[in-house]
Amino acid sequence: MNTKFKLWNIILRKEFFWWIIYNHTIKNYKQINKDAYLILRLLNKPLTINELINTLKLSDLDIEIQDLEKFFNDFSKDKTIIVDSDESDSEAMIFFDNIDYKDMKTDRLNAPTNMSIYITQRCPKACKHCVSRSAPNAPHDYELNKEQWFKVLKDIRNSWVTTIVISWGEPMIKENIFDIIEEADRLKLSLILLSDYDEMTENIANRIKNIKNLEDFQVSLDWATEKTHDWMRWEWSFEKSKKRMKLLANAWIKYTVSSVIHKNNLFELESMVKLVNELWATFHYISPLSPYGRWFFMNKYLLSDDELKILWQSYIKYVRDWLVRTRNSYWVNNVGKADDKDFHPFKKSLTLISNWFYNFSVKWQWDCYLDSKLWSSGTLKLWNVLENSILEIWNNPKLDKLRWTYWENKSIYINEENINNYI
Ligand SMILES: C[S@@+](CC[C@H](N)C(=O)[O-])C[C@H]1O[C@@H](n2cnc3c(N)ncnc32)[C@H](O)[C@@H]1O
Ligand code: SF4
Repeated sequence: MNTKFKLWNIILRKEFFWWIIYNHTIKNYKQINKDAYLILRLLNKPLTINELINTLKLSDLDIEIQDLEKFFNDFSKDKTIIVDSDESDSEAMIFFDNIDYKDMKTDRLNAPTNMSIYITQRCPKACKHCVSRSAPNAPHDYELNKEQWFKVLKDIRNSWVTTIVISWGEPMIKENIFDIIEEADRLKLSLILLSDYDEMTENIANRIKNIKNLEDFQVSLDWATEKTHDWMRWEWSFEKSKKRMKLLANAWIKYTVSSVIHKNNLFELESMVKLVNELWATFHYISPLSPYGRWFFMNKYLLSDDELKILWQSYIKYVRDWLVRTRNSYWVNNVGKADDKDFHPFKKSLTLISNWFYNFSVKWQWDCYLDSKLWSSGTLKLWNVLENSILEIWNNPKLDKLRWTYWENKSIYINEENINNYI
């Protein structure tokens, strides 16, 4: 009865209609109800069950000891709660606890949960489909330097963001990239890195392995054969991709393979799925080729709506049959629809945007956009991170009209073609 419990390494965020936990141990989000939130926030300091019951009574939350034990049992499984064996404070971070519900906006989260960082447009390759139009000689005037990124990262942490995605061209060629990554890690920002770096070595793999808050390391594989993959990416890319994945697997790094699908490789999907499994990837994501950046070299390969249906119907069957693992709960929750001939969840989805609700992006030259699609077309430029804080940018009134769409019909998607109606 004297055992004390406390929160472990989590982020707990109060929002206007739900409460979010981001769990650094299992690197996952969970939504909880208000009572669970009220209980968990008290465990920022170690407490026994009786102490907790008494404190909850003061907030008019009367809870039976058996119910609380069950609650502890449930939240111990994923290490949200642990036994306080060393009498230290918890590592949890609690955000927005002091904001009154009535002061929160109801068309957005209090702050983004995710931010995408387009760290450089440069890349040793120049793939035919590249959304960022990256290439070895891509412009890099005024790229933020290490010190500027440190400042921005600090602001990101102070704005209660949980996860940053570092991407765009090839992040691994950015000067001092590991200093920047390690600073983000020190600030306990969960990190997703997107990289297709052909010069990966055992040393680099080991440095990646040491990132404590690495949520995902994502690499690319767009075809199942050397001839087809190299046609879209670069000579020797296929062999180098496989070598890189073996280095990651040998270092025991969980990694995700991302494949861009279009008319010419749609029917290679099954061979790709098999190859990804042979290479010990943990997860396999699929993105249809989208009509942005340098895609016009491949414009005739854009999937039709019928082909999109085939793509996602195949993918959900692979998920059901455990041939593909995904972290995206949408697919896991919908495996029951794998044999539904009408399953067509992403009709006309190639130009959908949704990020005003939880995400926005910082470009390598400091300007902010909601996502890469809008950056690509230069639409809806928000402020920049050197002059405005992350929270100011998040609450830029330019986004108000877009956000009203959420308020009106609970949709978080609009087609980019209609963007002018909202700006
Ligand atoms: C822009 S890249 C940056 C990271 C790294 N250079 C790479 O290629 O993996 C991130 C992801 O976007 C994908 N991508 C690039 N252009 C795309 C497009 N037009 N449509 C869909 N995905 C695209 C890439 O294949 C890659 O998986
Ligand atoms: S898709 Fe990735 S690897 Fe290819 S050019 Fe673009 S940034 Fe570079």
